[in-house]
Amino acid sequence: MRVRAVAATTAFMGAAALLLPNTAAHAAPAADNPLVVAHRGASAYAPENTLAAVDRADEMGFDWVENDVQRTKDGRLVILHDATLARTTDVEELYPERAPWNVADFTAAEIARLDAGSWFGGDYAGARVPTLEQYMRRVSRNHQKLVLEIKNPQLYPGIEQQTLKVLGNEGWLGPAHLRKLVIQSFSADTVRRVHALRPAVKTGVLGTPDIADLPEYATFSDQINSSYTTISESYVATIHALEGPHGKPLEILTWTVNDADNARRVAAYGVDGIITNKPDVVREATQN
Ligand code: G3P
Ligand code: CA
Repeated sequence: MRVRAVAATTAFMGAAALLLPNTAAHAAPAADNPLVVAHRGASAYAPENTLAAVDRADEMGFDWVENDVQRTKDGRLVILHDATLARTTDVEELYPERAPWNVADFTAAEIARLDAGSWFGGDYAGARVPTLEQYMRRVSRNHQKLVLEIKNPQLYPGIEQQTLKVLGNEGWLGPAHLRKLVIQSFSADTVRRVHALRPAVKTGVLGTPDIADLPEYATFSDQINSSYTTISESYVATIHALEGPHGKPLEILTWTVNDADNARRVAAYGVDGIITNKPDVVREATQN
């Protein structure tokens, strides 16, 4: 992933080094364009978290995609954002008696029957909720790179190990693929667990932790991935002044930026990546 630009923040880092116990001094490399990550696939243009959405990102020329993984009643991993199937599938029509339509209350076979595309538009009628295996094979076929979010892990005990097992089975834990993979979660415990289970895997904590807590996060997480509404230039600089578990500067991806003005603003902060439903808009605004 890109190396951040810290030239403008060298003075700040000097001050931060006095304040932050695990702060490492880093040279100031040249500025670089932030990575553009297609959020839930290119989700402004195709139904989120479907194979069509990662294909759309690929067709638009984006290799990094972000998607969410959860678990079915019978223990299969599937790609879906919400804890329920209601918003992005026709589950209420097919299974009207099954409210509140939690992912965890449906088997993989039941979920495979759902239409996950029509809600977005007729062109996508019949798109399915992919299993993690189906999804990994499509991302592999497209030669794409993946920020995989373990979503709602409190609902799915052991999902960290199970996710890693599938990734290993699909060949994504070897050296070539490790460069193409980040596992992230809003749960710091989940990220800590992933790091403990597979220290070589790059990880990210979602959220905007207090600055005082960042050195602890940096012991198990390579990235702090924050909402663009919560960050500042100094927060980005503070992150970059720390060293992550792989001996490299801590990174920050920010989400979900869908307009040019905010894309330019966070790019000027020096973020490492921008997660967006509209990767074309962000690319146009930020890539020199
Ligand atoms: O990758 C960041 C973003 O996906 C986190 O929020 O709710 O879209 O999963 P959410
Ligand atoms: Ca997500």
